[in-house]
Amino acid sequence: PALQPYVDELPIPETRGVAGELAATSGTHRYHRDLPETRSWGFERPVLGPNLEAHRDQMARIGFRNELGPHVLAEHVDLTMHGVTELDRTDPRFTVHLHGGANAPDSDGHPLIGWRNGGGPSFAYGNRQEAATLWYHDHAMGITRLNIQAGLAGMYYLRDEFDTGRDDNPLGLPSGEFEVPLIVQDRTFNADGSLQPMVATYIPQGYNQSGQLGDVCCVNGVVWPRLEVRRTVYRFRLLNGSNSRPYIFEFSNGMLFFVIGGDLGLLNGPVPTPSIRVSPGERVDLLVDFSAVADGASVDLINTAKNDLGNAVFMAPELRPIMRFVGAGDGPAQPVPFTLRGGPGQPDALEPVYRPSATRTMTLLGLNDDARAAAVFPTMMSLNNLPFLSSDIDLAAAGTVEQWDIVNTTPFDHPIHLHLARLRVIARQPILTSAYFLANYPPKFGIRWAPSADAFAIGPEEGPPPWEAGWKDTVECPTDTITRILVKWPSADELGFDPDTVLTIPPGAEAMSPTGAGMPGGMADSPEIRGYVWHCHNLDHADHDMMQQIRVRP
Ligand code: C2O
Ligand code: CU
Repeated sequence: PALQPYVDELPIPETRGVAGELAATSGTHRYHRDLPETRSWGFERPVLGPNLEAHRDQMARIGFRNELGPHVLAEHVDLTMHGVTELDRTDPRFTVHLHGGANAPDSDGHPLIGWRNGGGPSFAYGNRQEAATLWYHDHAMGITRLNIQAGLAGMYYLRDEFDTGRDDNPLGLPSGEFEVPLIVQDRTFNADGSLQPMVATYIPQGYNQSGQLGDVCCVNGVVWPRLEVRRTVYRFRLLNGSNSRPYIFEFSNGMLFFVIGGDLGLLNGPVPTPSIRVSPGERVDLLVDFSAVADGASVDLINTAKNDLGNAVFMAPELRPIMRFVGAGDGPAQPVPFTLRGGPGQPDALEPVYRPSATRTMTLLGLNDDARAAAVFPTMMSLNNLPFLSSDIDLAAAGTVEQWDIVNTTPFDHPIHLHLARLRVIARQPILTSAYFLANYPPKFGIRWAPSADAFAIGPEEGPPPWEAGWKDTVECPTDTITRILVKWPSADELGFDPDTVLTIPPGAEAMSPTGAGMPGGMADSPEIRGYVWHCHNLDHADHDMMQQIRVRP
């Protein structure tokens, strides 16, 4: 249905502390004035969840409960996928991962351990890290893309003594009504209001590995909303919570963003920029100065990402409008701060990028030479050519810094996310993928394929744009490119727990087919569910095994 943009108000989820229980429930929600009610899921709200707020070093325990009932997207539950059974239609699994949190393995929400109706995990969050914009979301293997689409996601503000969230914060950041979460998610709706999560036009179910792209954009669960703003500076915590779509955000009038932080904390100082690219799973912390916007005048947040080469199919349909800001009166005088780190009353400045102790080449592949796997998944996306739960598991040491060269040989960009670790972008460098392939062909599916691509570089290394220079947990890896990152594994001391434990299945939980029966993953032979995962945050790719476990030894 054709929907009119900017008619509904932006809803702002309530903020609450991390404690007690949070139930995932079923309900209905109106995504747009002119749409019928949609069956939806949320955490004690019709859709999405409250803004959870925690303070640094506050040990928090929270119980999540599955009160979902039948899947609101039951007909899209795909039985060919890893660990998925018929039961996921009538009584779906869920789990919750705190994205960006360095938490113990049994509180991390491992994708293969899920809870059905009436059950749920009790997770401990240590919050032993500096202030950042985290988020929480479902992570149940094989149905994550549907569970998040139904509404299981929310923001999590981690505060500290600098970023207090109060008016008197030493950094001089806007707070209260001037600090606003923006959860951006593209969606497609059927005329009856139901969600249409498949890209049925070119990839049939069971093959849907390119991703889901909506034709409208929701912010905080409302299609193309509007927000009245006063003439002052606002702080926006922007999350790309979309399944697959990367955005390049700009303002319709060319106005600047002042980027103050990324996934895992603040930059040294605000970086002014007219455009910013945000991939699925990434967050940006932004200041925006509306003081020149007259009453009733509007400024639109738009997406200028194009159907560029390599993403020609993937990026269709384009989606330009996101939301509208409308001027509505004067606001308090609020300067954009000059620095955020390194001064008195400020956190330590970001250290320069330092030397790694080891380099790993990690390849992103979209091919499949195994006959059985190829028959079902012609171009299964993989990490290092391995199925999820390969026993060829990477071992990292707590407290070390590694360099990862992520070589993307596929025609799509992939946002790669590491659990537990924090990362910095060093550089990106284009390669001639065809030559790299020819020189190393053929990869045998299930056997690690990760030769260095350095010899196939066809252009200079390019450092990250200044707004991408801080700590992150998710990194955009463009097609035909080596993305070099530094990966910092926290030390056992920083963590306060043993990061290398074999997970036992808690009472009331279920482990999903650890051997991945019915999947190419079934060829893997890892009987253990261990520690942490890293994966593509295109949720369709993650659900299709573009994921690996990693062990972190103390
Ligand atoms: Cu946001 Cu492993 O996920
Ligand atoms: Cu991907």
